Amino acid sequence: MFPPVAPRAGEKLCALADIPDGGTWSHLYGAARAIFPVVVARKGAELIAYVNVCPHQFLPLDGYMGEFLTDDGEYLYCMQHGAVFRLNDGVCVAGPCGGRRLLGFNVEVRGEDVVMGRWPDAPARPPADPRDHSPPNRAR
Ligand code: FES
Repeated sequence: MFPPVAPRAGEKLCALADIPDGGTWSHLYGAARAIFPVVVARKGAELIAYVNVCPHQFLPLDGYMGEFLTDDGEYLYCMQHGAVFRLNDGVCVAGPCGGRRLLGFNVEVRGEDVVMGRWPDAPARPPADPRDHSPPNRAR
């Protein structure tokens, strides 16, 4: 399960300053069929990390264009076919992969850097509240 091109636990992903508060940072490790695409979102001091692969057709959420979040910053969306995922737990709340979730992993802040946490350890977020299916404010 551990992708050979994935950073090892403790390996630097980026500087904390690379992730704007209310925004995301993404990177593609590896090449060809051995890739590990990541996206890390920041909400204040909280970092939320996922493998950048949509559970619908296993394509990158952003098409590697760097656009992940809805206007309210509470959801990630997939530009491929419109799936929408709660940022906090990665659960799909709208679109073609309803009920499935993004694969999360842990990251840690060490000094000024964001480093890879333990893996595999998904989901990194607490279980979803199944009652929360409020419609997202999707960005375009
Ligand atoms: S690949 Fe993401 S919605 Fe289809």
